[in-house]
Amino acid sequence: MLNKKIADLLNDQINKELYSAYLYLDISAYYLRKHLYGFAGWFKKQAAEETEHADKMMSYLAEQGEAIELKDVAHAGKTYKDLREPLAFQLEHEMYVTSLINAIYDAADEVNDRRTAHFLDWFIDEQTEEEATATALLRKFDLLAGDNRGLYELDAELGKR
Ligand code: FEO
Repeated sequence: MLNKKIADLLNDQINKELYSAYLYLDISAYYLRKHLYGFAGWFKKQAAEETEHADKMMSYLAEQGEAIELKDVAHAGKTYKDLREPLAFQLEHEMYVTSLINAIYDAADEVNDRRTAHFLDWFIDEQTEEEATATALLRKFDLLAGDNRGLYELDAELGKR
């Protein structure tokens, strides 16, 4: 069994990960409507990764004999003013998720829950990677997507993910 606060935080984080999946599916839908199928596919895969993150947390809670609570997922529909904005928003969102993971880590540390802290190490590494990937994508967009040809090439590249 885990400390109740830790179990609650992990259940909240499952919801945030599923919200992240929903958010990225919404971004995928945005690019689909723009007929940028590479961008759309890239975000669809990103959404699938978020579901895997939720799944990892569900397995951990189950292994610890804790209840798994699947709560309502918030509405993710956003309006973007241009093709760049979802990419900037992704980076902002990943930085927010990093802050949530860090807060659970700190809470685990406070109650000497080394097992959960160790479990979260994977997520801390993953967040480093997610932020770096989102930053690189935004940078690439700024370098390449200034004209239609660059945008076409970036879309083709993203389609290979
Ligand atoms: Fe599950 Fe993109 O953080």
